[in-house]
Amino acid sequence: MTYVLDDPAKLRSLDPQDMVGLVVRLGDLLEEGFELGRRLDASGWERPGHVLVLGMGGSGIGGDLLRALLYERAPFAVTVVKDYVPPAWVGPGTRVLACSYSGNTEETLAAYEAASSAGAQCVVVSSGGQLVERAAAHGTPTVRIPGGLPPRAALGLLLGPMLGVADRAGWVEGLGAGVAEAARLLRELASEWGPGRPAAENPAKELARALVGHVPVVYAASRLAEPAALRWKTQLNENSKVYATWNVFPELNHNETVGWALAGQPEALLQVVVLRDPQDPPRLVRRVQVTREISLGAAAGYHEVLARGSHPLARLLSLVLFGDLVSVYLAYLNEVDPTPVAVIDELKRRLADA
Ligand code: F6R
Repeated sequence: MTYVLDDPAKLRSLDPQDMVGLVVRLGDLLEEGFELGRRLDASGWERPGHVLVLGMGGSGIGGDLLRALLYERAPFAVTVVKDYVPPAWVGPGTRVLACSYSGNTEETLAAYEAASSAGAQCVVVSSGGQLVERAAAHGTPTVRIPGGLPPRAALGLLLGPMLGVADRAGWVEGLGAGVAEAARLLRELASEWGPGRPAAENPAKELARALVGHVPVVYAASRLAEPAALRWKTQLNENSKVYATWNVFPELNHNETVGWALAGQPEALLQVVVLRDPQDPPRLVRRVQVTREISLGAAAGYHEVLARGSHPLARLLSLVLFGDLVSVYLAYLNEVDPTPVAVIDELKRRLADA
């Protein structure tokens, strides 16, 4: 009998809306989004006092990725707010990227209105909904992205425009080259790790198999990989419908490591996945090793995933793609459809009624 992850007919029946097909388009969607963002006139955005990204869930993670990318490169701070209320410092010097795929997320709508009223200059990234309507009413420039996808599968379309604006505004050198490399690499990796590559030679399928029946604990070995670890956790939650947790070195050494002390307790349920970057500083590599020796022995398994590529954007997104695929494969192994997120839909519905 063909192994489930290598059986295209079985996968089609488990994934009627083709989440896996969307996941492997990350590189194409990134390029498309980047081009849409580059069309925007970015005058006034050259020297922001502060950049604020607003967005929830699948629309907020793009902000986390942007922040990690600019951390060591931009001469200003990037803050990501996933809330109704923007910080009190928001004012005319702030440049705001308000992202909501549907355009109807109440937290983002409220934070956008408040930032706008505080005098911040905003750009909206959305496929439609109330956010686009309100942007039109306020005269806010808008990057209108194609609709019809689950927001988390539109990551390339949400991150791409922000990178396009960043490139037009000249925030950092070489972003266009980074996007081109990332898109090329992601297409290559999509075939290396994608559904057509048999499990015996596919590390993403292999890792998904190890995660069945366990709680994934995703650790970023360093700051660059931090948003990738968060993305892994949220994709495991939404696609595989499993509980998962995440953290980042070195901070986790100052608290979470102690929580691994009780051998024979729930740790036996945990599978640790460490997201590594070939350019991780030696000090952090050593930290990961020592942590593994001291604390992680009780885990059911320990895995490392190494970023690929050269530009930081390519390295970061290679980790994202690997995790997205693992989450879809784990959904298949759990026999759940990766696309519906009934709990999120119900929450939004009930809150809208209230
Ligand atoms: C659904 C998903 C969610 C949404 C979030 C915000 O695929 O990933 O996390 O992204 O509920 O909705 P939007 O993105 O429409 O603002």
